[in-house]
Amino acid sequence: MKRLIIANWKMAPQTSREALRLAQGIARGVKGVKNVEVVLTPPFIYLLLLKLGLPRLTRVKAGAQDVFWEKNGAYTGEISTNQLKASGVRLVIVGHSERRALWETNEIVNKKLKAVLGAGMRAVLCVGEAEKQKEVAFPKIIRDELHEGLARIKKSLFRNLIIAYEPIWAVGTGRADTPKNVYEITTIIRRELYRMVGKRIASKIPVLYGGSVDEKNAHAFVKDGAVDGLLVGGASLNAKKFINIVKAVSEV
Ligand code: 13P
Repeated sequence: MKRLIIANWKMAPQTSREALRLAQGIARGVKGVKNVEVVLTPPFIYLLLLKLGLPRLTRVKAGAQDVFWEKNGAYTGEISTNQLKASGVRLVIVGHSERRALWETNEIVNKKLKAVLGAGMRAVLCVGEAEKQKEVAFPKIIRDELHEGLARIKKSLFRNLIIAYEPIWAVGTGRADTPKNVYEITTIIRRELYRMVGKRIASKIPVLYGGSVDEKNAHAFVKDGAVDGLLVGGASLNAKKFINIVKAVSEV
């Protein structure tokens, strides 16, 4: 399976000029890198800019950090899957812990996953526990996020699903998880997916890790943590660091 690295720019950078410069710098830097798919998820306001500003032949793609579940209608401030598709977006992050901390419940995440997968786009479902468990027991919160988030979604739509394991205590803290723990938790996540949709479909669902990924630990998460890719926050705002992460993963 080709590795997947997603840059989550969150609410940065502050200007379109910086966003374009960052995207172009990354696109140039990862040009010759093989076996890794790179997706940048900027704030909505920069999506078209990336679509227009990235050379057509670059393999770097643009994704979204969120979406609304209705296709159209009077919903002030919201963005639909139709609009994202029209802007060239084919991948959407759903249920990031920073959105869950604001107001998103598993029920809302479920509506968004249905909308994204139903629109034929790829959805990255973020799951993760708040407090590090000392002994590695599979936190119930992750099981609930999987089952409630994916409730009543047709099995055939799981082919466009991606799971990102992001322990909340590791997000933006500089305290990354260990590859060993990531291996153990993501193995249980994969087993849970097998149970839900059967091995044939589940074995094709990429499972990523996110949480204080940097140039130094990226290789180990993919090699020893055995994940299919990474979701990178802070380090994706620095072209050089992000390019090094992509290169490190391409060498695994
Ligand atoms: P950091 O890489 O800054 O810890 O953020 C991770 C994240 O939230 C990616 O979605």
